[in-house]
Amino acid sequence: MQLIQGAKVAATVLEECQREIAELAKLGKKPGLAVVLVGDDPASRAYVRSKDKKCKDLGLHSVKHELPENTTQEELLALVAQLNADPSIHGILVQSPPPRHIDESAIVRAIDPRKDVDGFHPENVAKLTLEDPTGFVPCTPAGCIRLLQDAGVATDGAHVVVLGRSMIVGKPVALLLMAKNSNGGNATVTVAHSRTKNLAELTRTADILIAAIGRPLFVKADMVKEGAVVIDVGINRVEAPGTEKGYKIVGDVDFDAVAPKCRAITPVPGGVGPMTIALLMANTIKACRQLG
Ligand code: GUN
Repeated sequence: MQLIQGAKVAATVLEECQREIAELAKLGKKPGLAVVLVGDDPASRAYVRSKDKKCKDLGLHSVKHELPENTTQEELLALVAQLNADPSIHGILVQSPPPRHIDESAIVRAIDPRKDVDGFHPENVAKLTLEDPTGFVPCTPAGCIRLLQDAGVATDGAHVVVLGRSMIVGKPVALLLMAKNSNGGNATVTVAHSRTKNLAELTRTADILIAAIGRPLFVKADMVKEGAVVIDVGINRVEAPGTEKGYKIVGDVDFDAVAPKCRAITPVPGGVGPMTIALLMANTIKACRQLG
């Protein structure tokens, strides 16, 4: 069993980013990212802090906006408009999910697609579907593909089962896997979700299983084929009495039970998570280059 170490691959991506940042600096350019958080969900707060910190470590310009829970739609739209117009900002990320009174789709559509480093704007979703390389690919799906490539897992002709159909992971990763290329594409993809019948029967046919449903330890050993590759996108906080924080992070896969059957598997934490942040940095650099 091969442990796919996301932290190591992420470090390689960040080294590539560092080289590009140095090149841009020679041209007098510094990529800038604005991260916006509305409300005080502890997990979202932790993500936003780590994105901001990673930016600063790399020498990117980073601005963090932490807004109160009762921020109105209009106030948030006004901030997005201000960031769209700010020439020092090349990437804008509004942490998902926002509080319930905010219309997330309207916020995503308000972001200048050229600064949409999350790849959630309809224009970038279209570009992903059309395989147009000028678009932005969502960071977590791009991270999954890069991990497969780095681990030497060929997707050509493989049957990939994606568990989950979210805008952030399930749908875009399915599009990337079925794209017409041998770099993480050319797969036969099945997208399964909460209404899928005979789920275990289906997942057992997967050469590659991507779990992105947000349910702790959902994937059990009897759902995985011997020799399969498993990518666990889940980041779930579960209670852990007696530990310092009182909680621990587990994936969507019951790692201890599943890992012995796998050809390769990502751990949680230290698998897909670090890749998401690294790819966000890469997208911000791409936005800076493309904005000119
Ligand atoms: N929430 C969980 N993952 C993401 C992400 O990649 N981008 C944003 N904006 N919100 C998220």
